[in-house]
Amino acid sequence: MEKELSNVLPESLKGKIVSADEAASWFENGMTLGLSGFTRAGDAKAVPLALVERAKTDPFKVNVYTGASLGSDIDKLMSEQGLIAKRLPYQTDNTIRKKINQGDVLYIDQHLSHTAELVRAGVLPEIDFAIVEAVAITEDGMIIPTTSVGNSPIFVQKAKNVIVELNTNLPKELVGVHDIYLPEKQGERKPIPLTNSSDRIGKIGIPVEFDRIKGIVLTTETDSPSTIVQPDEETQTMANHLMSFLRKEIEAGRLDKTLAPLQIGVGSVANAVLHGMLTSEFYDLEVYSEVLQDAVFDLIDAGKVKVASATSITLSEEKGNEVYGNFEKYKDKLILRPQEISNYPEIVRRLGTISINTALEVDIYGNVNSTHVSGTKMMNGIGGSGDFARNARLTVFVTKSVAKGGNISSIVPFVSHVDHTEHDVDVIVTEQGYADLRGLAPRERAELIIENCAHPMYKEQLKDYYFEALTQGGQTPHILEKAFSFHINFAKNGTMLEKVPVTN
Ligand code: COA
Repeated sequence: MEKELSNVLPESLKGKIVSADEAASWFENGMTLGLSGFTRAGDAKAVPLALVERAKTDPFKVNVYTGASLGSDIDKLMSEQGLIAKRLPYQTDNTIRKKINQGDVLYIDQHLSHTAELVRAGVLPEIDFAIVEAVAITEDGMIIPTTSVGNSPIFVQKAKNVIVELNTNLPKELVGVHDIYLPEKQGERKPIPLTNSSDRIGKIGIPVEFDRIKGIVLTTETDSPSTIVQPDEETQTMANHLMSFLRKEIEAGRLDKTLAPLQIGVGSVANAVLHGMLTSEFYDLEVYSEVLQDAVFDLIDAGKVKVASATSITLSEEKGNEVYGNFEKYKDKLILRPQEISNYPEIVRRLGTISINTALEVDIYGNVNSTHVSGTKMMNGIGGSGDFARNARLTVFVTKSVAKGGNISSIVPFVSHVDHTEHDVDVIVTEQGYADLRGLAPRERAELIIENCAHPMYKEQLKDYYFEALTQGGQTPHILEKAFSFHINFAKNGTMLEKVPVTN
């Protein structure tokens, strides 16, 4: 162990090594924790799990801030144990989701670029402990994060105490992948000097004064693998529609075959889209995104990706073994940044990203709901989709046209919750086709969305609504009494279909 630590931990810090249980004993009821971790990557694991153990005999509550979702069942175990009072800014776990929807956990669903600003400005309660996973601490005072950066830089900068989980089981080649840039406070901020996805504008680690490190916990736990869903016929069809759209943009001279920096959200469609690019004519692609999933590394292997910038790397077990077993091969193409930089609106607008994210439902005028099932129940959260949607060159939302075996239409008269307004949405893609909404007035959009994106079993019902709404007039015609008729029908009858087909 002594030898293992020689290059990753300064001699002067060795006296700060403690067990996870000892670190867990420092926490008090009501404290606020800033944990590293973004989409199951680079999360602090040992101390949160030790807190769960402690809470079994000594119940208490803390507020938990992170980069995004956590792995290692941390959200599940902490919320099961009743440890979490307030959680932000994103989660994807079934157990905490239930607690949130029961009102047992308070959840702030937040644009992922906003958390750092609120911490910096002192709007959110002060962070008592930043707990961050690291691959090394350097002699010159930097914590080198592992597979994600997330909000760790601002947590470390602002927390009263810092605990480092030093993971000795990760390739040391991770040192040099990160680019840590912390903007000045608002009002005094200079332009962020990033004009290409490949630019490095910061330091290789998170600056920290050693006297602020209260403890160092040694770990070897690896990240939870991503739950990647391989392309199926429907997601493949959606990917093909999207590629047809991109080809039309090339024909029109608005893009060339290198496209534009790509931001692709997590999930099955995103994965299918990237897979589709493997055998496409597109080349020299740039990725300026939040998360790098398996498909990005497949594209690097195929020589299709020039540079991939994000805030985390989330891989399946198989791909993880391949990538981390051979990290040198990928290193010069990768940059991991703080999430406030990967998602920074100024940069997204400057680079002109093509942003592809997923909707739960879309309405006939192009408003998008990505978060709330039936308008009230939290699914995951808005994540970074809003940071990109508002600012991208091309904002694309994808969704299957129906859910739950056809009982839910993902195209509805009026979304039951709005995350992305019609003003921020350029293109909608379902397995039925795509609707390019740019330059279209609401009445034109409604016709195109119903025609190109709705499932045939809901088309007539949507048209009936729209034609009746037209009789009422308006810039954006609606019949308010019936705007949620699809959702009300689903709640009452278990289907949005008004006329359920008779089967013999
Ligand atoms: N109403 C109710 N439920 C719906 C629905 C609708 N209109 N549309 C889909 N669902 C259900 C599906 O049936 C599925 O349920 P299941 O888990 O019980 O099978 C679930 O929602 C997920 O749908 P799926 O089609 O598998 O899509 P997904 O896994 O890609 O997730 C989002 C879709 C919208 C939940 C997810 O992309 C998300 O959280 N997005 C917001 C954050 C974001 O965009 N981040 C991007 C930056 S990384």
